[in-house]
Formats: sequence, C-alpha cells, structure tokens
Amino acid sequence: MSEEPVLVIAIDGPAASGKSTVAIMLARRLGLALVDSGSMYRAATLLAVERGVQLDDEASLADIARELRESFELELPPDSPVRVSVHGRDISSAIRSPEIGEAVSPVSAVRGVREEMVELQRSLVRKPGAVVEGRDIGTTVFPEAPLKVYLEALQSERARRRYVELTEKGLATTESSVGQEIAMRDEIDSSRESSPLAAARDALRIDTTELTIEDVVKEITSELERRGLRSDV
Ligand code: CDP
Repeated sequence: MSEEPVLVIAIDGPAASGKSTVAIMLARRLGLALVDSGSMYRAATLLAVERGVQLDDEASLADIARELRESFELELPPDSPVRVSVHGRDISSAIRSPEIGEAVSPVSAVRGVREEMVELQRSLVRKPGAVVEGRDIGTTVFPEAPLKVYLEALQSERARRRYVELTEKGLATTESSVGQEIAMRDEIDSSRESSPLAAARDALRIDTTELTIEDVVKEITSELERRGLRSDV
C-alpha cells in the first residue's frame, strides 16, 4: 500500500508581505498544521530581552533557542486568533511589540539560533502536513517541499498594511516608523550570511501589492490542484 506523503507548503517573503494571514487561511482551509517560524524567532528575542541577554551573546541566544524546542507552542483554534506560548505563558501580543521588532533580525542572524529553530520547525510537521512560513523555508528548512511560494509587495504597501494592523490593535505608531522598521529588517534578513531571505529557484512568485488575501489564497489553491497535490479545495 502506498503511503500518503506529508504535504508541506513553504511560504517565504519579506516583512509584512501577507505571509501570516495567507498561511493561517490556507492551514484552516486545508486542515494542515501551521508552522509560523517568525513567531519562534520573535519568542527567542522576547526571552533574550526579558533576561537581559546581549544581542551579540551568541552562545546564550543559541541556548534560548534550544530551550524553545521543549517549551514553544503554537495553537490555531478554529474560531479565535493564533495563540503562541512559551512554558505555557501566552506571548502572542508581547512578541509583536516594536521593541521585539527592532531586536528580532539581529537575533535571527545568529547561526546557532537558526540551527535550533530549523530543528524545531522540522519537528512540528506531521501527517497530513503543514503550511510553513518564514524567510528560508523553501531554500533551507524544506527545500524538497512540493509547493514553494514567495510573496512580495511594494515596500510602501507593506508599510501601509502593517501600520493599519498595528493601529487596529491600539498600538501608537506612524506609517513612516513602521516603514523604517520593516526596511531595516528586510536589509538585515537579506544580507545575513546564514540562510538569508531569498526565493527558492522553483518558487511560485506572487506580487500581492494589488491583490486581496482571498486572491492570493485562490492562486495557491489553484496551483495545488494543478500539481495534483490537493483536489478538494
Ligand atoms: O510578520 P513579519 O513579516 O513582520 O515577520 P515575522 O515573519 O514574524 O518574522 C520576524 C523576523 O524573524 C524576521 O524579520 C526575520 O529576522 C526572522 N525570521 C527569520 O530569520 N527566518 C524565518 N524563517 C522567519 C523569521
């Protein structure tokens, strides 16, 4: 009897390109797990900041990343937002603060941190499969994924979307400071030595600047059908 393979959909792209929203919708619709790798890097950064670990203390940062392999949890309840926790503590809001946004890219550039995180990401994928999103999923974490997607959008549009998202959550900020933060992260994420932000050569590239989330999800599910990976969507 042939075994049904595990379906991995890898979604990469720069900051605020719509990856998380698209990944959540796809995971719900397809009955797959969600592996949001950005929230893991953000969780490591939160613990480092709370414990006063210096952002250039690579050994301590890698220790924190290793600790997450036992203590990080991400839940995707059917009717409520994603819940991210560490040692059972809900950190869903704390990891989205501007302070963590500023510190996360330097932490993510540390090779020892990335090695631990990649192990964690791989360990979370089980049958029937998962939507895995981040910066290096199609290039490094799951280079054999049967569908790789790279989402991009104009920087000004990404800044606008993230600004709307943060103000809706009641966070005081400006569109220009949000724009600066995502530009800074993109620069560090794309230029680091260890698995930088990049599109896999065989990724389906989608420019989302003028698309709705529903348009993007439809494009991905149509591609799944075309490739014979899912026919029930
Ligand atoms: O949601 P947003 O696009 O703002 O970012 P995120 O996906 O939460 O990722 C936050 C940060 O984590 C990124 O800017 C990267 O520095 C890092 N990251 C990474 O290095 N590799 C990944 N696979 C995912 C995130």
